[in-house]
This record gives sequence, structure tokens and C-alpha cells, in this order.
Amino acid sequence: MKLVIAATGASGTIYLQRLLEQIDTAANEVHLIISGHARQVAAQEVDTLRVPDGVAKHPENDLNVPYVSGSSRFDAMVIVPCSMSTLGRLASGSGETALLRTADVFLKERRKLIVVPRETPWNLIHARNVVTVLEAGAVVLPAIPSFYSRPQSVIDVVDTVVWRILDQLGLPNPRAFRWKDEGGEPAAKS
Ligand SMILES: Cc1cc2nc3c(=O)[nH]c(=O)nc-3n(C[C@H](O)[C@H](O)[C@H](O)COP(=O)(O)O)c2cc1C
Repeated sequence: MKLVIAATGASGTIYLQRLLEQIDTAANEVHLIISGHARQVAAQEVDTLRVPDGVAKHPENDLNVPYVSGSSRFDAMVIVPCSMSTLGRLASGSGETALLRTADVFLKERRKLIVVPRETPWNLIHARNVVTVLEAGAVVLPAIPSFYSRPQSVIDVVDTVVWRILDQLGLPNPRAFRWKDEGGEPAAKS
């Protein structure tokens, strides 16, 4: 699978970190774009973003890359975390950065675009922008964790969101807790 993963300046660098750690880069081609504001938030939230070997890193504004054109064949893009600013610019059709242009291309080519917004509370503009990108074909997968797997750590909580991203990508996800699946009993209370 050929993937573009983009991070923008919303809180939640750890979602990006855990997603990168759970994608097999030997089996998948992964391109990573990090916005300038995402770098600032990452510096606040994690000391160093660990980018696994095999992930190709690109500047936010590099247009000299294959995925900014619909003529290149890619399978999916994930924006994780997605700021409301990026969501708004995406909803407006802006392609002012390579990151936004790529998302716009994926929508027009009817490729999978998974947007993982993180903000609370929402104003009406945020809500309307969510509707707009849904209508344009994006998957909106908010960074809203679940707790029925009885997560025991922050990483466990984060993974409840990351598992849903991996499911949307159709990537192997053997650790995912699945309700009522065989072996899916919640962890015992400590
Ligand atoms: C520590 C920190 C946390 C932030 N968290 C959020 C957030 O959760 N959601 C959001 O929409 N913006 C958040 N912002 C604001 C965005 O970084 C800001 O709107 C920025 O312009 C987004 O730029 P980008 O979308 O180009 O990356 C945060 C900023 C900082 C400094």
C-alpha cells in the first residue's frame, strides 16, 4: 500500500507516533509530511518524534513529490492529528501547501482520505467544515478514544483511536480489541 501520512498542529502527536509504529514499512510505502505548527506541538508533547526506518520524510511545502499529483497512484492519506485550521483550509478547497494540495488531490481522485481532527469544543465553523469534507468523501475519524477495552495506560488509550485508523486503511491490526471477538475480553480490573 502507498500511503501519505500528514501531521498538523493539533494536540495529539502521540497518535501520529503510535500509527507510525504500527505500520509495517517493509510491506508499505510511507511518506510523512509534518507541518511547521505540528513540529512545534510535537516539541511540546513528545521530546522527539521517532520516525521508523523506511518512512520517507518530506517538508510541508515540497511540491517536487509524487503524491501532489493525481497522476501518481497512491492508496490513502491520513491527516493525524488534524488541526481545525487545516480542516478549514481543506474544506475551502485550498491547496496552498503541498500537504493541503495532497489532501485535495486525494478527494478529487476519490482516494481514501482519513482526517483525524482534535479540538474541543467545536464552534459552528468547525462543525460545518466537518460536514463539507464528509460530503467531499473524506473519512472523519476524530481523535476520540474509547474505554471498553479497559486501557491501562496512555498508550492503550491512544491505540483505541489508532486501531480505527488502521482498520480504515485495511492494514493488519492484530492487537486491536474487538468487542465480543474471540480473545477480546477486557483486561482484568487491577
Ligand atoms: C500546544 C498547542 C496545541 C494546539 N492544539 C490544537 C488542537 O488540539 N486543535 C487545533 O485545531 N489547533 C490546535 N493548536 C493550534 C494550531 O497549532 C494552529 O491553529 C496552527 O495554525 C495550525 O497550523 P497547521 O494546521 O498548518 O498545522 C494548538 C497549538 C499549540 C501551540
